[in-house]
Amino acid sequence: MDVGTELNSCIRMERVTYSVGGRRIITDFDMSLGKGVNRTILGVSGVGKTTILKLLLGLLKPDSGEIYLNSQSIAGLRESQLSRLRRNIAIVFQNGALFDSMTVGENVGYRLLEEGELPEKEIERIVLEKLSFVGLEKTINLYPAELSGGMKKRVAIARAIAADPEYIFFDEPTTGLDPIGIYNIRSLMQTLQRQGKTTLMVTHDLHTAFAVSQRFSFLHDTQLIFDGSEEELRTADHPGIREFFSPTEQSLFVNDRITNLDPLLHERAVTHLARQRPIKH
Ligand SMILES: Nc1ncnc2c1ncn2[C@@H]1O[C@H](COP(=O)(O)OP(=O)(O)O)[C@@H](O)[C@H]1O
Ligand SMILES: [Mg+2]
Repeated sequence: MDVGTELNSCIRMERVTYSVGGRRIITDFDMSLGKGVNRTILGVSGVGKTTILKLLLGLLKPDSGEIYLNSQSIAGLRESQLSRLRRNIAIVFQNGALFDSMTVGENVGYRLLEEGELPEKEIERIVLEKLSFVGLEKTINLYPAELSGGMKKRVAIARAIAADPEYIFFDEPTTGLDPIGIYNIRSLMQTLQRQGKTTLMVTHDLHTAFAVSQRFSFLHDTQLIFDGSEEELRTADHPGIREFFSPTEQSLFVNDRITNLDPLLHERAVTHLARQRPIKH
């Protein structure tokens, strides 16, 4: 598929293929992300979305293909060079990945303290500034266990932006949150975009994707089956995309590839699915 190259693209993947334990996860994946743009990579659970973020960070090595960050190929880089590039990238992990034994403030300032380049007073100032950006300055002395799921994600965002990275990756930032939590995360992502950050989200949350993204990739069965705008995605006629927009009875357990279902379980699942309203946009 010729996806074209976004003008001034600063993140690029070209024909990236990745397998683990002999199993193909991603095949010939192409993506380019322009400065200040948000792209969302959509796809069902287990399709390889987190894997793509890890490949971009250089945490996983592709079998083949090229990955460029800041227009620089990361393939031949030494670990020290990769670390330098990574300082410009932050990732908000799916579960927040906060350190439970540290306070909120220590979590947010952790990377800056480790780098040891700024005086502690300055780090304290930055921690407070980033926490107030996500509306949580009052939680500075609390521990993660004392926070709700949505608050933890906001602290994770504050931690991600502490070192003022140019790129921010979000792995399922809204999964498991209530509507207010989702609204807060969306607003923060939009504000970061207005500040000129280049952001990449992977998610299966279509509503949030449409709220914050300008470009969309769709990953299905190891392949990129779509790259384009919201309008193009809404009218795309690939069965994998249609099914994602409105799952039907035929979609049941397809992703799990379970064939011999207990008939009672199957019926319950069908009833449950039938009660859920179709997604509205
Ligand atoms: N360390 C690993 N060893 C083996 N399989 C893995 C490993 N990490 C991920 N996978 C497999 O790779 C596939 C893609 O995983 P992932 O990128 O986490 O999917 P997603 O983020 O879309 O839910 C999954 O089927 C998962 O089981
Ligand atoms: Mg994932």
